[in-house]
Amino acid sequence: MRGVVFDGRRVQVVDDLTVRQPGPGEVLVAIAAAGLCHSDLSVVDGTIPFPVPVVLGHEGAGIVEAVGVGVTHVAPGDHVALSTLAHCGTCADCDRGRPTMCRRAIGRPAKPFTRGTGPVHQFAANSAFAERTVVKAVQAVRIPRDIPLTSAALIGCGVLTGVGAVLNRARVDQGDSVVVIGTGGIGLNVLQGARLAGALAVVAVDANPAKEAVARQFGATDFLTSADGVRDLLPTGADHVFECVGRVELIRQAVDLLDRGGQAVLLGVPPATAEASFLVSSLYLDKSVLGCRYGSSRPQRDIALYAELYRQGRLMLDELVTAVHPVEDFEKARAQAEAGRVARAVLTF
Ligand SMILES: NC(=O)c1ccc[n+]([C@@H]2O[C@H](COP(=O)([O-])OP(=O)(O)OC[C@H]3O[C@@H](n4cnc5c(N)ncnc54)[C@H](O)[C@@H]3O)[C@@H](O)[C@H]2O)c1
Ligand SMILES: [Zn+2]
Ligand SMILES: [Zn+2]
Repeated sequence: MRGVVFDGRRVQVVDDLTVRQPGPGEVLVAIAAAGLCHSDLSVVDGTIPFPVPVVLGHEGAGIVEAVGVGVTHVAPGDHVALSTLAHCGTCADCDRGRPTMCRRAIGRPAKPFTRGTGPVHQFAANSAFAERTVVKAVQAVRIPRDIPLTSAALIGCGVLTGVGAVLNRARVDQGDSVVVIGTGGIGLNVLQGARLAGALAVVAVDANPAKEAVARQFGATDFLTSADGVRDLLPTGADHVFECVGRVELIRQAVDLLDRGGQAVLLGVPPATAEASFLVSSLYLDKSVLGCRYGSSRPQRDIALYAELYRQGRLMLDELVTAVHPVEDFEKARAQAEAGRVARAVLTF
């Protein structure tokens, strides 16, 4: 079958992958569509270290093809969106509703794929850039059949991370002020999360002026090409600043833009050894810096919620999809994403 494989040197679209059958508690999914998130590109450029060879992709939707022993919540033919959290469901963190903190869901890449005679790793417990993938039952969330799979694909990372950061981690309240630095696939979902939460001022900052229209469409009340201008709009600072690029100088700016009691939420992923600095005194007035993994999401609940909000017209998914390519054109999608020409480029199988 086809898939996008990174071997440590180059990315290739191959057609000689195989995937094993689902074991007990697993689901085999035929991927219909998958979004290209910056984190996939970060594996290729080394920002996110990952063992190779690896099948990329971690934001996808498709149709259940087979289920392993003990799986009853989905059946062949069901439409599903996939999460990247292969959490255990039985530990104390899972039990208290924090599956993103499950220790069994971090840093144990499986190798369900084979190419030639060698095993191939699965990225983010997912590998949505493959015609078929095997995931744990907890990762497959049934969605209504009337949601186009090219749109549903984006729930699995961009929406869970961005909207989740607003609702679950920052807990933005009605009337709050929000600044979003970087309005790519993640930042746009922070913007629409802020709108859902009832934020009053929502300032989008993106170095690329071409992002203004889409940022406003997703809920920005103002748009700037540099965070330097934020104080003109919010003289006392912001209640919440979300860094959605992954650059340490922007993390510093996020902290410096906080109002009293404000919080900087770090979503961008800089290189693993990057250090950021801030004035300790600048945090004195009850300010916080918050990390956030995957929107602090609970996928079975949140994916179903976002699917329903989409059907009610309250959450935008179709508008995130600015380009759709067959998987063979991965390089086109990559070029568009790197040039900042798309909200999301989606690959189809
Ligand atoms: N925390 C998590 O769980 C999580 C999940 C998914 C992605 N991420 C990370 O989030 C980040 C964003 O991902 P994405 O898919 O939205 O990326 P993207 O490439 O779609 O968007 C990045 C945006 O940042 C803008 N930008 C670049 N440099 C800038 C600057 N100096 N000032 C202002 N804007 C600038 C670009 O124009 C672009 O619009 C990446 O670092 C990714 O790895 C984190
Ligand atoms: Zn992602
Ligand atoms: Zn667990």
